Amino acid sequence: MPRAAILGTGHSVPERVVTNDELAQLMQTSDEWIRSRTGIQERRWVEPGTSGIDLARQASVRALDAAGVDADELDAIIYATISPEHYLPGNGVYLQHALTTRPVPALDIRAQCAGFIYALSVADAYIRAGLYRTVLVVGQEIQSAWLDATTEGRDTAVIFADGAGAVVLRATEESRGILAIDVHTDGAHADKLMIEAPGARYRPKESAAHLAARRFFPVMAGREVFRHAVARMPESVRETLAKSGLSVADLTLLIPHQANLRISQAVQKELGLRDDQVYNNIMTYGNTTSATIPIALDECVRAGRVCSGDLVVFTAFGSGFMWGSAVVRW
Ligand code: COA
Repeated sequence: MPRAAILGTGHSVPERVVTNDELAQLMQTSDEWIRSRTGIQERRWVEPGTSGIDLARQASVRALDAAGVDADELDAIIYATISPEHYLPGNGVYLQHALTTRPVPALDIRAQCAGFIYALSVADAYIRAGLYRTVLVVGQEIQSAWLDATTEGRDTAVIFADGAGAVVLRATEESRGILAIDVHTDGAHADKLMIEAPGARYRPKESAAHLAARRFFPVMAGREVFRHAVARMPESVRETLAKSGLSVADLTLLIPHQANLRISQAVQKELGLRDDQVYNNIMTYGNTTSATIPIALDECVRAGRVCSGDLVVFTAFGSGFMWGSAVVRW
């Protein structure tokens, strides 16, 4: 059975830097509060009107260039996002059109902060099954579009941000590539991090009443999310490594979803990893949801932090709750 190897990575973030002090002018918060609770020093938000597809296209072109693969060689596109441009169709169709004239399948994945791992699991299954040879996986978000940048929405507004990351996967008969992926859901916790409306369960699906009741903004039980994240992520890392006949002792580099620096630090401690074995960049980008892992991976690759033979592990947890991990031999 072929494996899926990561041939190239790329990312793109908006130019506009939003500092904690800037947010403190919009809401009752402070640089000290945000840094001490989340580790975030600044994040990127797009200028209003900027297309997320453009960020995804830039990240994809960089990943294709790094891979030495032409966009016309792609057999499929898997696009993780929870902030699509439109209610329908999904972002994947716009990216397909921006990259190639070939009518390749383009599938949107909606799995929140675990979106990239879920997208990777679909691409990996396609490649292992022999259905497709070369697959582009993208995680992209424009979270600034739906945040409530006032004191009422400060718990989420200071955390979430915009960006895109991409990887090009190709079937290989070599021993490198994705060794195992593990994905889970526990819908009992669906209300712990959600945007309730608009939605098809309502008539009309968008209304002034919903707007007044703030149902278009995210609600988050922050402490609950934190508590579950620090338990599920290490558990999933261990399970996924075990599926590959490996253990934490074999791991070279962990790239955790960038939810909160304190979550990453708790996961690191629980797994007994050294500082140089865990990569974090939430300090400068905030939580870009499905884009955090491919952005971080691209930074590591370009900085030479990932070498041939290294064992790299991704792990993520978020709304749903949905979580998972992937183990990759570089
Ligand atoms: N600035 C200042 N104060 C804030 C604030 C902000 N941006 N956001 C919330 N607060 C306030 C709260 O209103 C609360 O005030 P109160 O005690 O008067 O009610 C107080 O800070 C403490 O809130 P609490 O939720 O107990 O703080 P916390 O220590 O749990 O930290 C989070 C809050 C959100 C940073 C933390 O729970 C967290 O990171 N959770 C995980 C969230 C996450 O990762 N989400 C993404 C999922 S992938």
